[in-house]
Amino acid sequence: MTVSHSERLRRKIELVLPEFASASTAIVEHPRFAEIFPEFLVTVHWMIRGSVPLMETAVARCRRMASTDAVAAAMIPYLEQHIKEELHHDEWLLEDLEVLGLERSEVLARMPSATVASLVGAQYYWIFHHHPVAKLGHVAVMEGYPATVEAIELMVELSGLPRSAFRTLEKHCHLDPHHRDDLNAALDALPLEDAHHEMLGISALHTIQIGSRAYREVVDRFDERG
Ligand SMILES: [Fe+2]
Ligand SMILES: [Fe+2]
Repeated sequence: MTVSHSERLRRKIELVLPEFASASTAIVEHPRFAEIFPEFLVTVHWMIRGSVPLMETAVARCRRMASTDAVAAAMIPYLEQHIKEELHHDEWLLEDLEVLGLERSEVLARMPSATVASLVGAQYYWIFHHHPVAKLGHVAVMEGYPATVEAIELMVELSGLPRSAFRTLEKHCHLDPHHRDDLNAALDALPLEDAHHEMLGISALHTIQIGSRAYREVVDRFDERG
């Protein structure tokens, strides 16, 4: 039986996904989770503020390659649609941070960590200098494994923080299962060859490894500060 493109990528991702899960658990199970949570949300903001600009960059490059590259051409409708679906999610996070007493000017004045810059920056590099299909490996991880509503309930309970501070995370419990299915369908319709699978796999693996490091650093920064 042949394995679909999305299944082939998901199998690779799921081999290393426990690393991401344990980095997230270390945050939620930290004895001072309520104090760490704002720092976690800032880190999530650093990551997802890149999602629409990255897709805009990818679709622009796909358009330039489309006449000679069937995969790039076939990615365009998916990216055009998905850009619309991810608009303003970074704004939602800034609003959630305001619930926690962090002014947006204060959040935006902070320089995002080198780790998050490596996570997002790698995608720009691959889009410009290799092939924009790499970006889909990043999307597969970032939007493929959202928290469950039960996990959000637990976070609200453990932290004692207002539920409205978890609004963006909670919305993604409902949105991202659809985004995962849409991406799987888009991947399955692309004329991918082994070389594209290698790009998707490396990009997804990088996202998990560096994303996990970014989450671990949330705890490290907090523990250093005491
Ligand atoms: Fe989103
Ligand atoms: Fe999404």
